[in-house]
Amino acid sequence: MEKGVDYIPVAPLVSRRKTWARTILISILSILAIWSYLPSFNQVSLIAGKTPESILLEALETNFAGNWSKKYTSEAHLPGTNFPFVQWTADKFEEYGLKSTIDTYDIFVSYPEDHALHLLDKSGKTVYLAPLEEDEIDEDETSKGEGRVPTFLAYAANGNVTSQYVYANYGSREDFEQLKELGVDVTGKIAIVRYGKIFRGLKVKFAQDSGASGVLLYSDPGDDFGVTPENGFEPYPHQNYSRHPSSVQRGSVQFLGGLGAAPGDPTTPGYASKGDVVRLDPHASIGRIPALPISYREVKPILKALNGHGVKAPESWKGALTGYDYSIGPNANVSLNLYNQQVFNITPLWNVYGEIEGTNTNEVIIIGNHRDAWVKGGAGDPNSGSAVLIELARALGELKKSGYEFKRSIILQSYDGEEYGLLGSTEFGEYAARHLQRKVVAYINLDVAVSGTQFHLGASPVLNDILKETLKKVAYPDKKVGSLYDHYEQTSNLKINNLGSGSDYTVFFEHLGIPSVDLGFTGSKTDPIYHYHSNYDSYYWMSEFGDKGFVYHNTVAKYLALLIYEINEHKVIKFGLKDYAENLILYFNDAVATIPHKWLSKEVVDLEEYLKHNIEDREFIYEASQGKYHDFSPYPFPELMEDFQCPHDPFHVMHDVNHHKNLTLGDIVTKTYNDLNALLNSTTDFDEKSKELQLEYERDDLSWWQRVKLHFQINHHNKLIQYFERNFLYYGGLDERVWFRHIVFAAGRYTGYAGQTWPGIREAIEDEDIDRLVKWLGIASKALKRASITLV
Ligand SMILES: *[C@@H]1O[C@H](CO)[C@@H](O)[C@H](O)[C@H]1NC(C)=O
Ligand SMILES: *[C@@H]1O[C@H](CO)[C@@H](O)[C@H](O)[C@H]1NC(C)=O
Ligand SMILES: *[C@@H]1O[C@H](CO)[C@@H](O)[C@H](O)[C@H]1NC(C)=O
Ligand SMILES: *[C@@H]1O[C@H](CO)[C@@H](O)[C@H](O)[C@H]1NC(C)=O
Ligand SMILES: *[C@@H]1O[C@H](CO)[C@@H](O)[C@H](O)[C@H]1NC(C)=O
Ligand SMILES: *[C@@H]1O[C@H](CO)[C@@H](O)[C@H](O)[C@H]1NC(C)=O
Repeated sequence: MEKGVDYIPVAPLVSRRKTWARTILISILSILAIWSYLPSFNQVSLIAGKTPESILLEALETNFAGNWSKKYTSEAHLPGTNFPFVQWTADKFEEYGLKSTIDTYDIFVSYPEDHALHLLDKSGKTVYLAPLEEDEIDEDETSKGEGRVPTFLAYAANGNVTSQYVYANYGSREDFEQLKELGVDVTGKIAIVRYGKIFRGLKVKFAQDSGASGVLLYSDPGDDFGVTPENGFEPYPHQNYSRHPSSVQRGSVQFLGGLGAAPGDPTTPGYASKGDVVRLDPHASIGRIPALPISYREVKPILKALNGHGVKAPESWKGALTGYDYSIGPNANVSLNLYNQQVFNITPLWNVYGEIEGTNTNEVIIIGNHRDAWVKGGAGDPNSGSAVLIELARALGELKKSGYEFKRSIILQSYDGEEYGLLGSTEFGEYAARHLQRKVVAYINLDVAVSGTQFHLGASPVLNDILKETLKKVAYPDKKVGSLYDHYEQTSNLKINNLGSGSDYTVFFEHLGIPSVDLGFTGSKTDPIYHYHSNYDSYYWMSEFGDKGFVYHNTVAKYLALLIYEINEHKVIKFGLKDYAENLILYFNDAVATIPHKWLSKEVVDLEEYLKHNIEDREFIYEASQGKYHDFSPYPFPELMEDFQCPHDPFHVMHDVNHHKNLTLGDIVTKTYNDLNALLNSTTDFDEKSKELQLEYERDDLSWWQRVKLHFQINHHNKLIQYFERNFLYYGGLDERVWFRHIVFAAGRYTGYAGQTWPGIREAIEDEDIDRLVKWLGIASKALKRASITLV
């Protein structure tokens, strides 16, 4: 038992000074734990002749997903609105036997008030007034009548600008650089960019950085894989339809994942918007120029006015807007007047939690999904996820009712404000950070559970094995295909993606180091076009085109129910640490391959120098973000990381490396490889040990003292598994986006969504900054050593 206690240093909240009190407390708790543990040791897994898995699947043989979809798509529910939906969700959790809580945060948001867009001729006369509205479609109830949400971009600055305009392709950093090379001056002009490739908020950021006065975002039919009216596909809602020409993608233009920005409430980066908090200027995370979203039908006359003006766009910039020749412009004889007016204020947002308490409440599994939607419908985003969440509550509730004892606590969470910038989940994660880091085993994210027929999985590699094994237990809706596993093998070669950002797992994974999963069915080229963030993401669409009979919803619910069961049921947490180590090596190979060869022989500066820089940087950020002193540092939980991160001397371990002689970069890379291989070694042994312990646990011929011993062994072992991924957080954060602390996984800094690995290392190479590369190799080595050492 002492041993177990001694290993607790990996637990973030235990202060070494309180060892005595802790020992006594733990002794008492342990005796209580054994007391409750022994009788259930030989727990019979059958309940009334049924396995827990069959109880879950039986519950889901009835499929109410369509009912919940209908409910959630019946009224608008922008962030901080529609409290009845909040209450309904809480009531549902209670109805199914979960303990529900409503958790409120006061968050800075914007709501649409007014907008206008005029195309003006040289004399300033309006030649075209864009209606900025989506068509009402008879068949599709939610596209009509009361309660429709105007087309707008959350957090886009208020403004009324009149200027010339240019076409800027996808609005990526490279696109704006290319415009410069082509001699196009964006300064003071409105940039018209098409959706796609990168997160929309970063398009606005790059436009702003280039001096643009405003932005128009539209969906180009060229990004619809040839499914266009010209190719014979009539617009929605025909069979085999093309994108409706009036459809508009709403969305947030927060600078999610961009340099200097943090998710969540832009006025409280890194700490929770609860109670009486100090709020900062939000403009590190939101823009200063107005922006509007627009349909391809309405942008057409505007872009056509550029025909023959300015340089021709490069071939890869061309979409499929008919009548527009993709000239970049500007045309000195026309201009745009873009007017955006929103109400910015601080308003309550509500998360709803539903809990099933497990035997061990220090091991928690969270399943989260947001509830807010851009439109009255939102049948795909997020209500397919919301419907599945309620189905999960129902199935897990059935299992609980049957008398099954959950080993770990399960918490279902319905967040508000995801769409605006991961608001509800981020504020909660920041508020409960210590608690979550100490207790959560895994976070499972739903968002758009169904928008097509192609299953996707993104996850921390510790979960790879359990995710794949569970795929085998669920049938794919199209019976010809076989199991979900067969489907995933055929379509994705069983590849589990890296997590980037863009949904609620971000705070859990990238800020707190909690193993996370994101999953659902998305569209493939052969699926009907999904009208993302448009009025046509409706119940009608879902029930007629997206998921007739809600069978894909049901499949996600079954998969998740079994996955949760698997994570919950195994006494020894069923994670593969070796999978993690293997992936780290693969990603590291990829990163190292991008190092210019001639760098490797360069001598590099003493690592202690980096330590100094690092501390200065941190203080710089601390002061720069203030203007005035207050109690919040950008790192609100320094004590949290002490035992992991040794913040006073992050390069402690590297001293021996560099004390006496200078090294080449190649030497440093080799050292990191050694650390990776050592981790592979220790995780291989560790996973074997996990299997042995689980087998021991399943034996029924152990004496009582063997069981007691095993109890402590498993407890200790589980702590190591639970905290393994926390080792890969770096307290100082990624360069220029310190909120992101995971050193292995991050969203691309110029894309906002897509996952990227070893971000610190890769970005240093991209920026041709050897010093920073050495710093990040040092941080990696330190984390790898720490992870290895705790396992042996
Ligand atoms: C679900 O909807 C069906 C069809 O409208 C209805 O018959 C059934 O009673 C509903 N069930 C629940 C639990 O709401
Ligand atoms: C926007 O500015 C134009 C002139 O630049 C003006 O005519 C128009 O009334 C303004 N719109 C609003 C709503 O203030
Ligand atoms: C729709 O597309 C499918 C598959 O491409 C095809 O089999 C079907 O005939 C099409 N239906 C219509 C109405 O065009
Ligand atoms: C603007 O219009 C005038 C007269 O209508 C024409 O002479 C001039 O060439 C035009 N300028 C551009 C840039 O098209
Ligand atoms: C190590 O590198 C530093 C900086 O490049 C240099 O000043 C120093 O002389 C080198 N030391 C040795 C022992 O080569
Ligand atoms: C890994 O373990 C093997 C056998 O235990 C040992 O020979 C080898 O040196 C270890 N490798 C590293 C990098 O620690």
